[in-house]
Amino acid sequence: MAKKAAVKQMQRLDKIVAHITGWSRQQATKVIRDGGVVVGEEVILDGATKVSISAPLVIAGFNDLIADDDDALWLDQEAAAADESTLGAVSAQEALAAQVFLLNKPANYVCADRDKNHNVVTTLLRSERNHANLHCAGRLDLDTTGLLVVTDDGALIHNITAPRKEVNKVYLARLDRALPKHAVRRFAEGIKHPEEDKRYQGAKLTPLTALFHELEAGAEPESGHWAAVQLSQGRFHQVKRMFEMVGCEVQELTRVAIGALNVTKCPVGTKLGAYYRLSPAEVELLFTNQDYELAELEAMWRCYLEARASAEACYLAPVVLAARQAAVATAAAASAGTEQDDDELAGDAAQAAGESAQEDMSADEFDSDEFDSDDLSADSAEDFSNKDDAAFEAEQGDFDEFDADGNFRIY
Ligand code: URA
Repeated sequence: MAKKAAVKQMQRLDKIVAHITGWSRQQATKVIRDGGVVVGEEVILDGATKVSISAPLVIAGFNDLIADDDDALWLDQEAAAADESTLGAVSAQEALAAQVFLLNKPANYVCADRDKNHNVVTTLLRSERNHANLHCAGRLDLDTTGLLVVTDDGALIHNITAPRKEVNKVYLARLDRALPKHAVRRFAEGIKHPEEDKRYQGAKLTPLTALFHELEAGAEPESGHWAAVQLSQGRFHQVKRMFEMVGCEVQELTRVAIGALNVTKCPVGTKLGAYYRLSPAEVELLFTNQDYELAELEAMWRCYLEARASAEACYLAPVVLAARQAAVATAAAASAGTEQDDDELAGDAAQAAGESAQEDMSADEFDSDEFDSDDLSADSAEDFSNKDDAAFEAEQGDFDEFDADGNFRIY
């Protein structure tokens, strides 16, 4: 493999801004010319000016939000130049570093790069720089909630999803009935599902009985039968299918741990839809397998119930979906030249959104055993190609980050 050239310390400002924001060179140049970019404490108007890749940049419309005393966010460029409370002043050097986030996924979001009918998970991270490069490490079903790594680091995605890495995960499931007596043994031996060629690897099943203790203490009872599953495979609908084979239907599913990182140890554990940036030490924890005991599983279960109780906002998604589907249907009807009654369209879309909330992802979307890191680069190449920048791309050639002179490329 060709050795990468050392990155040049001084680079053109327009290139840096385009790289950090994901905007085209033309867009970057315009924002610079309009006085929208502060380098250190100086406003630079000429995009050709060379600046250090370690200089902190505040860019209008991208990272010029300021936190006031009440933690409210507002826009103020002058303050951005002077005020250390600027959120997210970022250098090109930082923008080149891999980003790793841990998201507590809400229901009704799809783990895919794009989807016509559902919100995609990465839209939750849209305020992050270079967010178009972020992808999910593995998949959770549309209706499954819980911990999900989202990153622009392809190697990390591969390491988390590759079957041979055997990353340990913990799921909590609410079932429609009590577990049969043989279920724990069947899970441990490895269950065979008719839709799978091979028997699943053995998994540890733990019935959760804390409910009864809480009932004794006079707490509000939680309905349903809960159980925890610890496993290291990631086959399509695996947890739901394993329960199906012991006669139980999963009515609610959440992932509460990946390796030694679990909802009780991270700041987003009680907040569906929230995410935070993982430190390198926390990334290591993802690969540290842990066999959780009952008390730890019950603590994660309580954490999840708290997250679920405060997540009403997440369940507005079907309304948003209905509006979006109505817009898509209207546009499609307009382009087909057909006349369709608006009310009818909105009604259809609302119904479709209701149904879609029940749907799961298609088989080939979930199966992490089938994951191919080439898919990621193919997707990325498609995402990054910017039609406005066609001439620039032609000049730059492929999608490598650096050119032969050590200039980083904008795509
Ligand atoms: N198993 C499932 O059935 N669904 C998921 O989303 C994850 C694991």
